[in-house]
Amino acid sequence: MLMFRCGILWVAILAGAFVPAGELAPLPERVPEPKENPTTEAKVALGRQLFFDVRLSGRNDMSCATCHDPAKALADGLAKGKGFGGKTLSRNTPTLFNVAFQISLFWDGRAKTLEEQALGPIASPDEMHQEIEALPAELEAVPDYARQFRDVFGGPATAERVAQALAAYERTLVTRRSPLDRYLAGEKDALSAEAKRGRELFLGDAGCVRCHNGPLLSDGKFYRVGVDFRDKGLGGVTGKKEDLYKFRTPALRDVARTAPYMHDGSLATLDDVVRFYFREVPSVVPDGLALDIEPLQNVSLMEAPDIVAFLEALSGEAPKEEKPKAP
Ligand code: HEC
Ligand code: HEC
Repeated sequence: MLMFRCGILWVAILAGAFVPAGELAPLPERVPEPKENPTTEAKVALGRQLFFDVRLSGRNDMSCATCHDPAKALADGLAKGKGFGGKTLSRNTPTLFNVAFQISLFWDGRAKTLEEQALGPIASPDEMHQEIEALPAELEAVPDYARQFRDVFGGPATAERVAQALAAYERTLVTRRSPLDRYLAGEKDALSAEAKRGRELFLGDAGCVRCHNGPLLSDGKFYRVGVDFRDKGLGGVTGKKEDLYKFRTPALRDVARTAPYMHDGSLATLDDVVRFYFREVPSVVPDGLALDIEPLQNVSLMEAPDIVAFLEALSGEAPKEEKPKAP
């Protein structure tokens, strides 16, 4: 019985569940994976090929990597994603680094698992515009894919298996050993003097850690910080007034590589983001709602560069991703 309890505790620690609220932490050593879709090397290799393969789009001209580009930290460097026929999407493309540790997906949290998410962009008429029903046959027609699906899943390509392979691949996209991680591991010089001061502010007077905490520097919850009031955010998913204009606290790992910022990509640099928290938090909110933050008052704008230096110390070593040869 004791062993059994210890087991549960251990799993909880591995999953990062026991990080005390309001603290920063390294990513768990082990990447969580669902029982129904265990990660295997062959599945990851298949997922990687699918991720880069334009066959997943209706006109065979766009892959996941078109928007989640390894050369751009698995984002696209644009304010808002660019989809089917060059159409501008409504939101900023998030990085996929460390996405395995998210407890919900999208800016509004509307998908719960990577498996559930993966077919969304393929089928979306605004994104890859692919008829999902036609996809398995298209892949089965490629002998190398037909063989791989049998090797990995013991059967032919199906939409569900495509999603499972993509999800398994995405779980390998983890960045480690950022200056912050090295600092947390005891390497006291891993952070510059500015970044150390920034860390103190982040944890203390600037109050950032209230929402940006834990291994991802995100609590996974939703807040109304007032960047804009056109996109309903979480409220568009739940239909509840109290959820209007709320967005998931973004993870901040590798954030220096993924400009521009916010759900609408409206802030170009980290300087702009920090300045927003000082000066641009709006005072008037529609629908009689209140914001979850107030403009920073007990910190001087002169200290903003220290906070930026801390944010720049959150970039880890990325797995080297290159476009594999299409089968
Ligand atoms: C046309 C550009 C585009 C393409 C192609 C695209 N995505 Fe995305 N992706 C986005 C945008 C924009 C969002 C954010 C949408 C939102 O939050 O409403 C997103 C969000 C995600 C998320 C959620 C990340 C998070 O932190 O919550 C995952 C996972 C993801 N995409 C995986 C994929 C996969 C897998 C593919 C290929 C099957 C793909 N995407 C293709 C633009 C794209
Ligand atoms: C009340 C919770 C909360 C607090 C406190 C908070 N944030 Fe945020 N942060 C958010 C949310 C929610 C967003 C996304 C807002 C949006 O897109 O509309 C965000 C966005 C960001 C982004 C942009 C990330 C990206 O990928 O686009 C950065 C950087 C950031 N915050 C840093 C900070 C810093 C630095 C502080 C302290 C000065 C701070 N935050 C305080 C909740 C919070």
